[in-house]
Amino acid sequence: MPPRVHVFVCDNHRPEGGRPACGARGDDVALALTEAILAHGAGGQVAVTRCGCLGRCFDGPTAVEYPAGRWWIDLNAAAAAELAALVAGDPAAAVPAALQAHLVTDDD
Ligand code: FES
Repeated sequence: MPPRVHVFVCDNHRPEGGRPACGARGDDVALALTEAILAHGAGGQVAVTRCGCLGRCFDGPTAVEYPAGRWWIDLNAAAAAELAALVAGDPAAAVPAALQAHLVTDDD
């Protein structure tokens, strides 16, 4: 059975001196997200996949979540834990206040 939620986390690396990249910070977010999802017992329901550049390099680390189609920016370990709680529970629930600043809206 496919996962009911799939989160792609950018961990794209680039050489120093050019456009910023999520890189090691994306690695940390992916690991924190995976660990938190497992802690919620949702490892079989929520997949986390590291991916290349999502195009929001100046806002990284970034992630995109399906099937909701939500984009997340400026993630860190604390935000990853909040995101894990959201998607491991009811992804249709309201985005908690602690995550609001990380959610890309139509105004972004
Ligand atoms: S390097 Fe992560 S969004 Fe571009």
